[in-house]
Amino acid sequence: MSTPNAVPDNLMEAIVSLAKRRGFVFPSSEIYGGLNGFFDYGPLGVELKKNIRDAWWRDMVQRRDDVVGIETSIIMHPKVWQASGHVEGFTDPLVDCKVSKQRYRADQLFFAPVVVDGNTVGYVSALESEKTVEELQAAAELFKRKKGIQGQLAPVQPRDMTESKPEEVALIPSPATGEPGSLTPPRAFNMMFETYVGALSDASSVSYLRPETAQGMFVDFKNVVDTGRVKLPFGIAQIGKSFRNEITPRNFIFRSREFEQMEMEYFIHEDADWSKCHVEWIEWCRQWLLSIGLPESHLSLYAHPQEKLAFYSKGTVDIMFRYPFGVQELWGIAARGNYDLGQHAKASGKPQEIFDEASKKKFVPHVIEPAVGVDRIFLAVLCAAYAEENVTDDKGAVEKRTVLRLSPRIAPVKVAVLPLLKNKEALVGRARELYKKLQRRYAAFYDDGGAIGRRYRRQDEIGTPWCVTIDFETIEKDGTFTLRERDSMQQRRIGEAELFAMLEEQIF
Ligand code: GAP
Repeated sequence: MSTPNAVPDNLMEAIVSLAKRRGFVFPSSEIYGGLNGFFDYGPLGVELKKNIRDAWWRDMVQRRDDVVGIETSIIMHPKVWQASGHVEGFTDPLVDCKVSKQRYRADQLFFAPVVVDGNTVGYVSALESEKTVEELQAAAELFKRKKGIQGQLAPVQPRDMTESKPEEVALIPSPATGEPGSLTPPRAFNMMFETYVGALSDASSVSYLRPETAQGMFVDFKNVVDTGRVKLPFGIAQIGKSFRNEITPRNFIFRSREFEQMEMEYFIHEDADWSKCHVEWIEWCRQWLLSIGLPESHLSLYAHPQEKLAFYSKGTVDIMFRYPFGVQELWGIAARGNYDLGQHAKASGKPQEIFDEASKKKFVPHVIEPAVGVDRIFLAVLCAAYAEENVTDDKGAVEKRTVLRLSPRIAPVKVAVLPLLKNKEALVGRARELYKKLQRRYAAFYDDGGAIGRRYRRQDEIGTPWCVTIDFETIEKDGTFTLRERDSMQQRRIGEAELFAMLEEQIF
């Protein structure tokens, strides 16, 4: 018996702790104190991540007739990044605190004037969080009290530092010191990691680690078209690492400096109904997230306001996920017109046109771009799957069980094989035989250590959907085993053929 699905208040802490304890995610270079914004994936994490990637690749590329895959290099010709606009404009607004040496993203650092009886008497600041407004209001009240100012305090009107006026900057307190006077005005900080290609380290050899995989698809567009397998509309997809020198990497693997993207550029006719195609891809992406087990209740859509879009962009919609630290972007689906191909045609002098048989016209295709981060999906999956429950065993004892309700599609281990007793050769022999058979097709796990209940708990905690126990009935009677289901914890007898048929149906 179990209590209903319970999510702890400190869900993020619980997830970070489980990720470390069970070998999903470790801080990078931990023995040297870690490196902010970099992470390692452990034995189970690497399986979960691979399953997410594989599911996307199968559905996005292999099971579609209109999308092909490529893999391009991480370091590309520096002219790629000049043409794409990244050298000039791939920036975040940065604010420094000259005293504490802390750096802030200006759009994540909020401030408000403290207004008493209609007069501004000072400023307060707070970092972006779920409670920014409350924090600023409390800080304003404290400010007024400390200064002994009498009168009516107005509700705070928060703005972020990108909206600060030059004369306000010196009056806004640094979140690090609590004192005004040390913050710098916001300046553009380029997030691309620079490196040098070749033996010379000078301006002529400067290159970049890619900040997105997308440019690989644009630069190889003609190569893919010329291989002759594609005709409009069609997509080019890629999965690979991207690098951004984020000012404030945070929320575990949500925003890191090295991460993995799954992007697809869907090229359409210049006269095609881009809006219809955009909507279709948004829905495709949403359905895909549901297919790997994310609950609909955690997903929402956010359409970027027209005035905030880049001049070439026709529209961008983000699929948002309700993380424990707030509703945040998971997957961006952008209608980018023909900007990227047009830019590369101009910069390289090589036309990026396609000949359309139907209209007998040459033109630069337009593009719809669904772009998502694997690490963000990974975190979303853990957040949605994690639960703690009180369970009562046969003897009435209550204990806590931690369970990851991962979809069988992406669970790192699909099935665990457990001989009831470790010291009974017949049980162990049959268990090992079944395990080896399962292992040929599925990620299986063999465990003969400890009480059976404890072994079930260990599998619950890593999200294994099914455990199969080899007991005396298996070897003395009809050959069936006990199948224990993770979510309901219910048990039933099952034969080998039925087990394989069930796995085949559930893991796709
Ligand atoms: N080519 C378009 C592009 O890269 P983006 O919105 O900057 O668009 C796409 O990135 C996706 O990549 C995001 O929706 C997010 O899932 C993921 N992503 C971006 N920056 C990230 C970071 N610093 N850490 C983890 N994932 C990130």
